[in-house]
Parts: sequence; C-alpha cells; structure tokens
Amino acid sequence: MDKALIILAGATGNLGRYIATALIQKGASVKALVRKESSPEKLKQLQLAGASIAEVDFEYPATLIKACSGGSCVVSALAGLRDIIVGKQGVLLDSAVESGVQRFIPSDYSIDFTKLPDGTNRNLDLRRDFHKRLDRTPIAATSILNGAFTDMLTGQAPFILFKLRRVLYWGNPDQRMDFTTINDTAAFTAAAALDPSTPRILRIAGEQTSARELAKTASEVTGKRFRLLRAGSLKTLDRLIRITRALLPETEALYPPWQGMQYMHNMFSGLAKLEPLDNHRYPGMRWTSIREALETRL
Ligand SMILES: NC(=O)c1ccc[n+]([C@@H]2O[C@H](COP(=O)([O-])OP(=O)(O)OC[C@H]3O[C@@H](n4cnc5c(N)ncnc54)[C@H](OP(=O)(O)O)[C@@H]3O)[C@@H](O)[C@H]2O)c1
Repeated sequence: MDKALIILAGATGNLGRYIATALIQKGASVKALVRKESSPEKLKQLQLAGASIAEVDFEYPATLIKACSGGSCVVSALAGLRDIIVGKQGVLLDSAVESGVQRFIPSDYSIDFTKLPDGTNRNLDLRRDFHKRLDRTPIAATSILNGAFTDMLTGQAPFILFKLRRVLYWGNPDQRMDFTTINDTAAFTAAAALDPSTPRILRIAGEQTSARELAKTASEVTGKRFRLLRAGSLKTLDRLIRITRALLPETEALYPPWQGMQYMHNMFSGLAKLEPLDNHRYPGMRWTSIREALETRL
C-alpha cells in the first residue's frame, strides 16, 4: 500500500518540525511547504529527517495547489498574526480544496478558544475568524486543542517563578488548567493527520493542574519549598491588560506582554478549559507529566 502523503506548512517552526518527525516515524511521507526566506539549515534538518521539500510562494496560489496535489491531509503549523492565520493560512486552505485534498488541520494548538468571548484574546480571536472561513469549505477539518505547551513552564510562561520559589496565580489557586508538551502535541497531531475520520475538534491534555498543585510538584522536583503568590483577582488582571495595551503601541509582535496576560486570564478563568478529553483516541500515546517535564528541564 502507498504511504499516506501529508502536506505540512510551518514545518520549519518549533512545533512543525516535531510534527514532521512524528509523521515520518508513523510511516507517512511528508512534504514540507517552505518559502524562499526559510533557513537552509532548517530545510537540511527536515530533509535529514526524511521529509521532502516544496518551495511555495503564498502570493502565487498555483505553487501551493501544485504542492498540495496528491496529499491526503494538509497540516498547518504556521504562526503569526492576521496576515498569516487568516491570510496565508486561508490561501493554503483554498489551495488544499482546489487540489482535492480531503482533510485539513489548522494551526490552532491552544486552549479552547471556541468557548471564549470575542476580544478576550487577540491571537485566539484570529483563529475563530479563520474557522468561519474553514467551516464554509467542503474540506473535513480537525482542530487540535492542547492547552498550553508544558515546555513553557520552564520557559517564558510566568507560572513558576523559580528564583523566587513561588507559583503565581490570578483568582483561584485551585482552578485547573491544561498543559501538553510540544512533543506530545506533535505526536497526537501526526496520529490525527493519518486518521481518516476525525471529528471537528480533538481535545488533549498531558496533564490538568492548578497553581496549588504546580507548587507541590515544583517543591517535590526541586526539593525546595515553592509557595503560592496571589497576583490579584481576575478583575485586576483584566484592568492590567487594558492599561498595558493602552500604553504599549499596537505592534506586529506575536506575544506582547498584554497578550501573555490574556492567555493567563483565559486559563485562570476556567472558560477555556478542555473537556471532554480525547487522550485515549490513539493507543500507544504516552503523555508526559508536568513532573517529568520539570525533571528533564531543570
Ligand atoms: N499552546 C501553546 O502553548 C503554544 C505555544 C506556542 C505556539 N503555539 C502554536 O503552535 C503553532 C506553531 O507555532 P510555533 O511556535 O511552532 O511557530 P514558529 O516556531 O514561529 O514557526 C512558524 C512557522 O510559520 C512559518 N511562517 C511564518 N511566517 C510566514 C510567512 N509569512 N509565510 C510563510 N510561512 C511563514 C515559519 O516559516 P519560516 O521558517 O520560513 O519563517 C515557520 O515554519 C501556532 O499555532 C502557535 O500559536 C501554541
């Protein structure tokens, strides 16, 4: 039997390269759509992993239609603002439909924005806008919603303040939130890309935890006591977001400080909580716990 051909946009990115590797490990052929500006080093790594490369120009849909042809699913891991998520991803979608591809996985990979009111998260509003367009096409679309990347707990997300030995929270320290590693999100996305009948949304979480539980885990992993640090109420956070946004000029930055605060608000409010979970859909998927992620990164 021929290998399934998966067309992957954003394959040079942080998440995309893991999706490419996971697909190849699962026996798929991967065609990475790249642009003239993509780093030659990243292209070399994708080729070494076993992907084929197709250079496309999003200004010329014919290049995308040709590259998508023969694919069973188009997976997008593009990142950016409106120009990318609605604009270029829209051109990719139309090209997939035009070339007869049956399935499409948009670049969502986030908390459950389908439940969020407009205006509460600039980056996630863009995804809902894209969905309006996506749901008007005949293609079978599946969004993967994974909460926040667990990897960010040891990176830029201001949850665990390692130097201060505090876990910051807004509102309720017992509000549970969803976390999944980049690697697990990529493995699940690859399985979904190769699954011919997926529902419109698949929700996954490597672990669901609260600020209080995070403090306990960080204490156990480091052997040092981590306490909770209440930053304020959700109303205060909302005010802070408005003030910061008014003070900072609207930039092209993907993650300005107020945008990070919007994610925190969405998560601590519980509105964007993922349920029910589809974690058990693919046998053999092993979920990395927060404890493991902290142990390997610290
Ligand atoms: N849930 C979470 O906690 C979380 C955290 C981070 C990201 N994400 C999501 O994961 C997805 C991927 O993000 P990422 O961090 O992997 O992104 P990334 O590392 O910045 O990669 C972005 C990809 O998009 C491509 N791209 C950017 N601008 C482009 C343009 N103008 N034309 C064509 N291609 C363009 C890049 O190609 P080049 O290499 O050519 O620039 C790259 O392949 C996004 O949906 C993002 O929101 C989720």
